[in-house]
Amino acid sequence: MERGLDWWRRAVVYQVYPRSFADSDGDGVGDLPGLIDHLDHLRGGPASLGVDAIWLSPIYPSPGRDLGYDVADHVSVDPLFGTLEDLERLIEAAHRRGLAIVLDLVLNHTSDRHPWFESSRQGRDGPHADWYIWADPAGRDGRGRPRPPNNWVSFFGGSAWAWEPRRGQFYLHTFLSEQPDVNWRSRGLHDAQFDVARTWLARGVDGFRLDVFNCFLKHPELPDDPLSGGFAWRAWDRQQHSYEKDQPDLLALLAEFRALLDAAGAFSVGELFTGGPELAARYSAPNHPVFDWRLLEAPWQAHELAQAIDEREAAFGPAGWPTVVLSNHDQPRTASRLARRGRPRDAVAKAAAALLLGLRGTAFVYYGEELGLGDIRVPPWRIVDPPARRYWPLPLWWNRDGCRAPLPWSAGPGAGFSSGRPWLPLPADWRTRNVATQAADPTSVLSAFRHLIAARAASPALGQGDFAWHVRGDGGVLAWWRRTGDARALVVVNTVGRPAAIALPREGDPWRLAASTAGAEVPAGITGGLPLEPYEACFLLASS
Ligand code: NOJ
Repeated sequence: MERGLDWWRRAVVYQVYPRSFADSDGDGVGDLPGLIDHLDHLRGGPASLGVDAIWLSPIYPSPGRDLGYDVADHVSVDPLFGTLEDLERLIEAAHRRGLAIVLDLVLNHTSDRHPWFESSRQGRDGPHADWYIWADPAGRDGRGRPRPPNNWVSFFGGSAWAWEPRRGQFYLHTFLSEQPDVNWRSRGLHDAQFDVARTWLARGVDGFRLDVFNCFLKHPELPDDPLSGGFAWRAWDRQQHSYEKDQPDLLALLAEFRALLDAAGAFSVGELFTGGPELAARYSAPNHPVFDWRLLEAPWQAHELAQAIDEREAAFGPAGWPTVVLSNHDQPRTASRLARRGRPRDAVAKAAAALLLGLRGTAFVYYGEELGLGDIRVPPWRIVDPPARRYWPLPLWWNRDGCRAPLPWSAGPGAGFSSGRPWLPLPADWRTRNVATQAADPTSVLSAFRHLIAARAASPALGQGDFAWHVRGDGGVLAWWRRTGDARALVVVNTVGRPAAIALPREGDPWRLAASTAGAEVPAGITGGLPLEPYEACFLLASS
């Protein structure tokens, strides 16, 4: 696929959660042939969204304890999703449309069923003996049971250590006990992980999302984590995680891994495992952006959003390049999170889309956001998300099933998603909120997404321009410049449910409306002032 090296900067990346995108064989679970059949929705078809890349959440063979984030074989495809040939067909079909493919690489841990771990747990000798993080017990407790080596806890709850009697040692698991952490300090493991990346690059993928990359290395002496002080419900939040993530030698490891990708012209995006924009910026490098969660955590209030934007801009600086993320497979959906307190769901979903696509950075759209989908309610007996099953009904974990519902394609049987029983319930409003219905409605969330993405793609200022405030939250309005060379754009978001107006800078007179979420008639040229409907957002282009 021919593109400049920097293609990812202006890109809109669409996250496909494969289980929930489109099911071709009626087993109720989305799959690769289903995705191939629906590529028209993403790019190259008559009513496509026009995104530039697909990020596929894990499709590798996996027992599914963490729904694919427990990988049992990094270089094959789980039969649940299809075959390696299906993936190769997907890569080819996507490339023909100018769509890049980004795979999710899970390199911090494997499944406990991975042959590496099955070999490693056998004993202290053997080819994979040091491929995981093994440690001797810290003595015995009063009942003679081995004590874990330190106080580290799992992000998903409980101790981060599990006992293996065959070795008489504990192994570390930052997530489930079925997800043992690998030992990146072992040369053999290190080389095997690099080979995984090489294999996929040779198969033509364009980049990787790196799952929890900043905990690849742990302090070799495994010291106790300091307590954070203060009260928190979750044990994880009662500790500072000084030793199992963000270790000083991580930067060298990242540089080495990134050099491999650079040589192949591939990009990566790092999933920051807890931390703010400064940390994300510190790990970012050309062709290797890092997610930060500041916007995803901000409430829908002009001054709060402005504060989040300022913190990101300050952390990344004009030379850095952030990502823009409002949702993903781990978080509540945008519409459920932001359209609260009686705010109209569609209007807020459209305005949030303008925020996502109009800010400086690579934009990530989570599947279903283009319809303004909300979270589903999952009855307790149908909960799938492992930590949610463990803790229900305690408020210790948010059930991630909520944001992982099957995508409704039509008002037909099975919402056009599957001819079988879907693995999770369909969104309650699927008969009206689906791709076909919204594609036919010029005022839908889907139509707004399409127009905004098209306007962004056509404008160098929106795609790669810098950022500067024009209106920083006054009257509930956010408006900012995007500028590159002679090109100038203005992004305007009315965050409140009442009409507003802003003065337009003379510099761009007359302004041209490139996209508006209010679906207003496009006037030929706007000068002086811009009236805004409640929650209206728009992209304006300067003519001078
Ligand atoms: C981050 C992923 O986004 C999440 O879904 C997963 O549970 C953890 N990493 C563990 O792999």
